[in-house]
Parts: sequence; structure tokens; C-alpha cells
Amino acid sequence: MPTARLTLDPAFRVGTVDRRLFGSFVEHMGRCVYTGIYEPGHPTADEDGFRTDVLDLVRELGVTVVRYPGGNFVSNHRWEDGVGPRETRPRRLDLAWRSVESNAFGLNEFMAWAGKAGVEPMMAVNLGTRGTAEALDLLEYTNYPAGTALSELRRSHGVDKPHDVRMWCLGNELDGPWQMGHKTAHEYGRIAAETARAMKRFDPSLELVACGSSNAHIDTFASWEATVLEHTYDFVDYVSLHAYYEPTDGDTDSFLASAAEMDRMIASITATADHVGAKLRSNKRIRLSFDEWNVWYQSRFGGEDSLDWRPAPELIEDEYDVTDAVVVGSLLITLLRHADRVGAACQAQLANVIAPVMTRPEGPAWRQTIFHPFARTARHARGTVLRVEPDSPLVDTAKYGEVPALWATATHDEGTGEVVLFAVNRDRAHPLTLTADLRAFPAARVEEHLLLHDTDAAASNTADRPDRVRPRRIAGTEAGDGGLTVELPPVSWTMIRLATR
Ligand code: AHR
Repeated sequence: MPTARLTLDPAFRVGTVDRRLFGSFVEHMGRCVYTGIYEPGHPTADEDGFRTDVLDLVRELGVTVVRYPGGNFVSNHRWEDGVGPRETRPRRLDLAWRSVESNAFGLNEFMAWAGKAGVEPMMAVNLGTRGTAEALDLLEYTNYPAGTALSELRRSHGVDKPHDVRMWCLGNELDGPWQMGHKTAHEYGRIAAETARAMKRFDPSLELVACGSSNAHIDTFASWEATVLEHTYDFVDYVSLHAYYEPTDGDTDSFLASAAEMDRMIASITATADHVGAKLRSNKRIRLSFDEWNVWYQSRFGGEDSLDWRPAPELIEDEYDVTDAVVVGSLLITLLRHADRVGAACQAQLANVIAPVMTRPEGPAWRQTIFHPFARTARHARGTVLRVEPDSPLVDTAKYGEVPALWATATHDEGTGEVVLFAVNRDRAHPLTLTADLRAFPAARVEEHLLLHDTDAAASNTADRPDRVRPRRIAGTEAGDGGLTVELPPVSWTMIRLATR
């Protein structure tokens, strides 16, 4: 059987795990909000109309930060429409998704929901069809305590205390011609810089995210970031990355190696940001906010023009299988492997729309396959990311050439002593023997060995069989003689938790 080797040693570290790496995304799109997280009248709805079955799943998922309200939606959104008495809120056309927006759920509902879910809100401002003034109005309404027109307006809406949102996205994907208010890099760089400068005048401790490219394949990839950061470098803290993966033309081997592309994308944007920093003779280092990532079968989506002005339509409700879950596990491994530069990441999206949580209106909520690697990684990846450099057999892929079959990382929580190894076997044909050198942790013993794998890699979870795919515990795995040996089945995700004291 092919064998891969790695060494876990606390002397070699990447960086600290920022809890914001386990973020998610709620956009006014399809059924993410309406009949997703919010459904007054649902049997589990609370007094605010929030589905408590979904809230329970969100807590179990371990999401730490949630980006809102878009996405493409934010680029033609008026935040004022979603505050104040519900009966006076206007119905609007959302041009991003050719949907009708009732505005029954808006800013204050989202903040109340985030409080109940125990997540940090990350807000996006509209720099597509609107500009600096409206962003500042939103900031004053959201974050200023009292005594000004907009803070008093919020208080008149029944929200006495400011929401104190820390992290703000300066627009969304404005490099994309599909975006309402699409801009050139210079145009966007200027408005983002002036908006950021003003927002930092309001509160210098805000954390601001400049829009990076909407994907790694767009012509302006990297040059967009270079220009935008030349304008914004002194005022922003993060630049965003977005990426969605799917098998193209049935090429599952390349799909399983999607992490190779995410890895390269992170390296490219880190280099671009550092190049701008060097040109500006700046000591500041821009961090990366990977605030949209996931598996998305985009080829199945007919495009925005195919949509027809309905409220909360069923939109891109991809059903995920075991292979998708393994890919999601490998993308999380990649984010952790770059913990020195990636300070926030949001899986897109949270409910129904390319989501780990699915719901039926008036019906049940359940976990998609991709829920599981996310939930376990979010719960157990704590402390420091160890630098893990596996020696692995290779898999040949059409898109990325030869990639290691084993993709892995590990974290070390110095407080509890727990070391957690996350590993994926991307080989579809062969199991892999993994040998971990644990000499740096002589007292290591296995607390939990969890495996996500199925003889049917196309198996998925549905409303009728919500637990068809779930990780299972492997009994009898032991560490000894300074090492650990486990078998990773083809197309599998593994987590091994070790107590080291
Ligand atoms: O998450 C779905 C869409 O993907 C978002 O609205 C947009 O930002 C991205 O293109």
C-alpha cells in the first residue's frame, strides 16, 4: 500500500489559528434568509421568527463570524429599506439575483440573529450603486451609541445599544462585470480608499477589507489587487479572496486537488500585497480575508438572466456528496496551512444556497455532507498551526499536474496540550498508509480517530436520509514508539485528536 509520512513538532509552526477562519456567509439570495434562517410561523420559530432548528445546527457547525448581507446583493442594496417598522419597509427589486426583496429581515434582525447564534457579524457596505456617504450613514446607525440623527433613528427602532461591528467589507466583487456598479481597479481603489479613510476617522480600530478579485481566473487577477492596494494600503487591514470549485467535464481527480489552486491563489495574493507594501516602503502587512469559498456546481446554474423576479426562489441549492465533503475538508486544511496570512474566511453560504445546512419551508433542517468536516475542524483546530510537510505519493491531475495524495495539517493547543491532525487522501484508486512521527510528543495517545469516507463517494444526505453520510469513529488506533500509523481510504477525510500530556 502507498505510504505517506509526516512529522509533528511544536518547534515548527505556521501561526496562530484565528477563530475567524471558521466564518460563514448569509446573503439575501435564494432561500438563505427567507425559509433558511428566518421563517416566522415555522414550528420551531422563536419570537423573532428565527428557526431554532437552524440556530441549533449553526451552533453545532461552530461558525464564528458571519458576513452579511451580500455578496452581489449588497451592490444594489439600500440598508435603510431593512430597518424600522416592518409594515413600512418597501418591497424592492434585487437586480443581483432578479428576485423580489420584502425587507422583512434587515440589519437589526441580522444582529439579533447573530447574537442568538453566538457569531460575530461582518458587514458589507454597498460601493456598487452607492458610495462613501451611505457607508458612513450605515456605520453611524450601526456603531454610534446615541445623540446623533442616525444613532437616535436606531434607538427609535428599539435598538438602544450600538451593534459595534468590528469588521467591514468595502463592497463586493466590484471587478466582476456582473456586479451592479462594476468598476475598474482605479475607480474601485479610489472609492474604497476614501470610504476606508472616512470609516477609520470614525473609529481607527475598525478592521476593513478591500475587495480582491472575484476569482483566480478573471483576466485582472492579481493586477486588480496590486492597483487597489496601491490606493488603499494605508487604510485597510485585509484584502478579500473568493473561490468556488467544481469538477469540470467529469474530472474528479482535478476536483479532489482543488486545494492546490486555493493554495496557489493565497500565495499569489500574499506576494502581490507584499509587493505593494515593498513599493510603499511600508512595515504593515495586509492579511487575507477568504470571505467566499466552497464547492459550487456553477455549471448547473442557468445564470442571473434565467431568473424571474420571485421572492426567495430556490437558487443554487446544490446537494453535496462524499467527494464534495472531502474537498471541503481539504480547503479547510489549506486555510489553516496559511494561518500566518489568512485571518478570516467565510464558507459561502450558510443555509440552502450552496450551504452546509438545508431546510424545507415548514419542514425539517438537516446537515449536508460538507457540514461535517467544517464542524469538526471549527471545533478542534485551536492554538497554533504546526508546519507539516508530508512526504507523499503523487496523484496525476489534468489541471494541476502531480499533486501529493496526502493533504494535511495539524494544530497544537498549548493550553490543553491537544494536537489535532487533519488529513485527506485525494487518491481515488488507492488507500494510503499514513505514518506520523510523534517523537516531539512522547506522551501522545489517541483520544479520537474520526473518518469521513463511504464506499459510494456519490452518497449524499437528503431530507429523507439526513444522516446517510456522517463521520464515524475508528476504534483501536494507538500511538506508540514515537509514532502513529493509520490507513486513509481513497477519497477520505480524517481527523485524529491526540492528548500529549
Ligand atoms: O455566494 C454566491 C455569490 O458568489 C455571491 O453573491 C458573490 O459575491 C459571488 O460571486
